[in-house]
Amino acid sequence: MSNVSAYRASILHCLRDPGDDNEPLASAAVEYFEDGLLLVVDGYIEGVGPASELINTLPTDVQIVDYKGQLIIPGLIDCHVHYPQVDIIASYGERLLDWLEKYAYPAERKFVDANYAKEVAEFFVEELLRNGTTTACVFATVHPQSVEAIFEAASKVGMRLISGKVLMDRNCPEDLRDDPQTAYKQSRQLIEKWQGHGRLSYAVTPRFALTSSEKQLRGAGRLLQEYPDVYLHTHLAENEEEVEQVGRQFPWSRSYLDVYENFELLRERSIFAHCIHLNDDDRKQMAEQGAAIAFCPSSNLFLGSGLFELHAARQCNVRLGVGSDVGGGTSLSMLRTLGDGYKVLQLRGEKLTPFGGFYLATLGAAKALYLDDKIGSFAKGKEADFIVLDPARIDLLQRGGGTNDICSRLFAMFFLGDDRIVREAYLMGQARRPTRRAKIA
Ligand code: GUN
Ligand code: ZN
Repeated sequence: MSNVSAYRASILHCLRDPGDDNEPLASAAVEYFEDGLLLVVDGYIEGVGPASELINTLPTDVQIVDYKGQLIIPGLIDCHVHYPQVDIIASYGERLLDWLEKYAYPAERKFVDANYAKEVAEFFVEELLRNGTTTACVFATVHPQSVEAIFEAASKVGMRLISGKVLMDRNCPEDLRDDPQTAYKQSRQLIEKWQGHGRLSYAVTPRFALTSSEKQLRGAGRLLQEYPDVYLHTHLAENEEEVEQVGRQFPWSRSYLDVYENFELLRERSIFAHCIHLNDDDRKQMAEQGAAIAFCPSSNLFLGSGLFELHAARQCNVRLGVGSDVGGGTSLSMLRTLGDGYKVLQLRGEKLTPFGGFYLATLGAAKALYLDDKIGSFAKGKEADFIVLDPARIDLLQRGGGTNDICSRLFAMFFLGDDRIVREAYLMGQARRPTRRAKIA
C-alpha cells in the first residue's frame, strides 16, 4: 500500500437502501463501527472496518489520524441548490411565482458581472464544505460567466459538482432572457469546456417549463442527444399555480411531466426538483426512464409549496435524493434539510427513518445522480469524500443525543446539528473544510 492514510473514529455508511427496515444494522443495509478505521490510498477508499482488526494490517510507519469520539460519514450530497441565491435566503412573504419576481430574479441579475459571480461562487463552495456537503447539483444563472465561476471555484478545491447555464427565454424579466439559438450555442461551448473536466459535470438547465419556449426546450433535447453523458436539471410540479399555468401554456400536454417528456428531457441523469404535485403515472414514468427526484423539504415549507409524497415515490421506485434548494430553502445544511424532511412527512402521516434520511443524503443521492460507483459510501475504490462530525460541539446534542445508540444520535443531528458539528470535510482524501471567515468590516 502506497500513500495510505488511516482515520480512527466511529464510522457509519450505507451498503444499500435501508427502506422502511426497522433493523437496518442487523440486515446490513447500514454498516456501523463504534471504533472504526477508514483507510484511504491516493484519494480513494481502500477499506473500512473495526480498528482492532485493521490496525494490525497497516505498515508500521502509517500515522493514524485520531478522531476518536467523533463520527465519520460519507460527504453529504445536495441534489438541488441555487448558488446565486445564497444572499436571498429567508426573504419574506411570498410563494413561488411572486418570490421569483421579487427576490430571485433581482439577485440573479447581478451575475452579469463575472467578478461578482466569482466572489459568490467561492463563498458558496466554502459554505458547502463548512456544512459537510461534498457534492452538489447546482443551478447557476442565465449568464455563462456564472457557470464559469462555479466550475472554477469547485475545481480549485477538487469538489465534485454538477452545474449548467440556466435556459429562460420567456415569462421572466427581459434582461434575464436568452433566446433558443444563444442558449444552445452557449450551452454547447460550456459543455465542450467543462463536461468531464476533473470532477465536474454539465447539466442542461431549463429553469422550468414556464420560462422556456417550445423551441428552446427542443434545443435542450437536442443538446442531450448530442452529449448523452450530461445531465438535465430542472424544476417540476412545485407549486399549484405553476402547474396550472403550465397546463395553459402547453395545452396539448397530458401533464406537467409530459411537457418535459415531449421534448425528450425525461431520461437517465434527469434531475427534477420538488415533484410535489404528481400522480402515480408520472412517478412510474420517471422511474421507468431512470430520472430522479430531488426532495426539497425546507424550501417546500418556506415557500408553502406543499408536502412531498415520499412513500408514493418509493413505491414507484423513482431514484430519490434531497436538495436544500437554497434560496427557497433556508439552510445549506443537509442535516437540517433532513430534519425538515422528517417534519414534512409527519404532516403527511409518513415516516422518514433516521437511516432512511441518511441514505437520501448519501448513497441514495449518489444513485439519483448516477454517481454511486464513485461516491456515497465507503466501498473500496470509491473517491474518498468524507466528513468528520463532532456532536460534542453542540451542548444540546452532547446532553440528549450523546448517550443513545447511533440511530438516535444520528436522528438528533437532523434537528440539533448543523455546520457547527462539521469538524472536517475531506475531498479525495484531502482535508478542505474552511474555517469561518472574519466578518467583513
Ligand atoms: N422554479 C423555477 N425557478 C425556481 C427557483 O429559482 N427556485 C425554486 N424553488 N423553484 C423554481
Ligand atoms: Zn430550485
